[in-house]
Amino acid sequence: MCGIIGIIGKSEAAPRLLESLRRLEYRGYDSAGIAVVTPNGTQRRRAEGKIRNLETVITDEPITGTVGIGHTRWATHGAPSVRNAHPHTSGAVTLVHNGIIENFAELKAELIAAGHEFTSDTDTEVIAHLLDATLKTGASIKDAFKDVLDRLHGAYALAILIEGENELMLGARRGSPLVIGWGEGEMFLGSDALAVGPFTNRVSYLEEGDWVIVTRTDADVYDHKGFRVNRPATTVPTSAALVEKGAFRHFMEKEVHEQPESCQRTLSAYLDPVAKSVRADIKASIDFKDITRLQIIACGTAYYAGCIAKYAFEKIAGLPVDVEVASEFRYRTPAMTAGSLAMAVSQSGETADTLAALRWCAGEGLKTAALVNVHTSTMAREADILWPTHAGPEIGVASTKAFTAQLSALLSLVVCAAVQRGKIDAAQEAHYVQLLLETPGLISQALVMDSELSKVAAIDLSKSSDVIYLGRGAMFPLALEGALKLKEISYIHAEGYAAGELKHGPIALIDEKTPVVVIAPDDELFEKTASNVQEVAARGGRVIMITCVPEKVPALSGDAAKSLKIIKGPACDPFIAPIIYSVPIQLLAYHTAVHKGTDVDQPRNLAKSVTVE
Ligand code: AGP
Repeated sequence: MCGIIGIIGKSEAAPRLLESLRRLEYRGYDSAGIAVVTPNGTQRRRAEGKIRNLETVITDEPITGTVGIGHTRWATHGAPSVRNAHPHTSGAVTLVHNGIIENFAELKAELIAAGHEFTSDTDTEVIAHLLDATLKTGASIKDAFKDVLDRLHGAYALAILIEGENELMLGARRGSPLVIGWGEGEMFLGSDALAVGPFTNRVSYLEEGDWVIVTRTDADVYDHKGFRVNRPATTVPTSAALVEKGAFRHFMEKEVHEQPESCQRTLSAYLDPVAKSVRADIKASIDFKDITRLQIIACGTAYYAGCIAKYAFEKIAGLPVDVEVASEFRYRTPAMTAGSLAMAVSQSGETADTLAALRWCAGEGLKTAALVNVHTSTMAREADILWPTHAGPEIGVASTKAFTAQLSALLSLVVCAAVQRGKIDAAQEAHYVQLLLETPGLISQALVMDSELSKVAAIDLSKSSDVIYLGRGAMFPLALEGALKLKEISYIHAEGYAAGELKHGPIALIDEKTPVVVIAPDDELFEKTASNVQEVAARGGRVIMITCVPEKVPALSGDAAKSLKIIKGPACDPFIAPIIYSVPIQLLAYHTAVHKGTDVDQPRNLAKSVTVE
């Protein structure tokens, strides 16, 4: 996805656009650019790579004016380059875009046939040419904009400047979020509330299909049919503290260490610590007694959160659960059963595949729920039920505090389902609630492993080209998540396996060059996992075992003993172990990436939320 900002302001636009783009950089960072309305017309400055490259360009070639737009890009059509960096322009039109125009080739051919010359490989540039051509027919700005939007297929969030209309900005959203920021004698457009956060905390959220004509003091919003609509302004808490690193080296490090608080905030939205029960409003949001099956759909780390929750939903609540990656689910015409609940799990609430899968389920008449961290996101607004996580803004591209917040919410819903389905009584409910209420303290204990894990990362992982992660039960999807964390921030190839699967092929990979990370809290599967450790060590493999019961690990002899490293984690009940043992696998990946010198917060090729297919 990309980040968009637009300003009709009272002070110099360039530094303000840059400040906003720095906040949006987590959304994509292949290239960036701004356009400012200057006394000599609208001018652009663009650069490949990070925002700091754009800052250099602007320092070398300043641009003055108080009205402008800005963009930070995650490339979909056209390689990351200055040529393809936004803003794009045609005649009187200059614009920035987040999304994909699916019929751009057809429109581009039509425009080329009409004599238009293109200067980029992007789908976005087509919109600029189309709007410029429509304006040249003499149509009003409002009519021309509506006509152009009606011709676009696909997803867009747009901010547009029109030459000569120096106190006006156009905006539109379909499939990609866009907010209006209300200032004092200033107005803003942004991809999200964070984007306009440096300038205002009063925002209106455009709905699907909305478009808007913004002036210095007002915004006329229209729905997809062209009727005027009202999108009220709300006040949002986008304080700078939420988006600064503080004393930490990276946002990811800060967010890993924030987890006691972020889980605490999330748990307090689901559990009543006095009554030791699930909150009444959560019980009122659903009756799991009426639910025959839970279909969880998600991507990436959120998918692994769903996989972990499946174990608990089925074991404790007796609720059948299927978990599937959204990109597969949405295209295979799944056979859904009546009474199923479709639950999307998503940090951003905007992931294209997850959103499409949720919409498919709604189209099939299923009840839908969104378990999301952005409570104003598209999924949050479209689902029948909103189950929020309260991780706070997660800026690091690698999901950490959002993941454990998802687990906190999901395990709370497990308890809710178990009570409503008559599987546990009030005393057992109180027991599980108490276990969950203890997780923030246990996460703090797990964070103490930081320095030991940093050493293991330096010595055992950072020089490896392949790493294997093993786990059993709910630790298997956690092993998958651990492998993903390592892959996405350190660029080291890593695979997660069910420990019981080792003998069915992967054991052939074991040698002294391939570290094996084993996640083994004290549960009923520990002995079986410990025997897998023996198998690996006996074949010269190097094992890093994360467990709270080192005394239960069978003694190894000879060289095998040298190949086993045990990292002691906090003792905890298996019900909450997935939350607690997320911390060491996050820290292992983080420190490995730091030792390798990769860009921890903005790993290559990635973006925080994939709002395109
Ligand atoms: C997690 O570390 C990744 N950055 C990625 O897999 C992410 O979890 C996935 O893209 C889903 O995003 P969402 O939670 O915003 O839907």
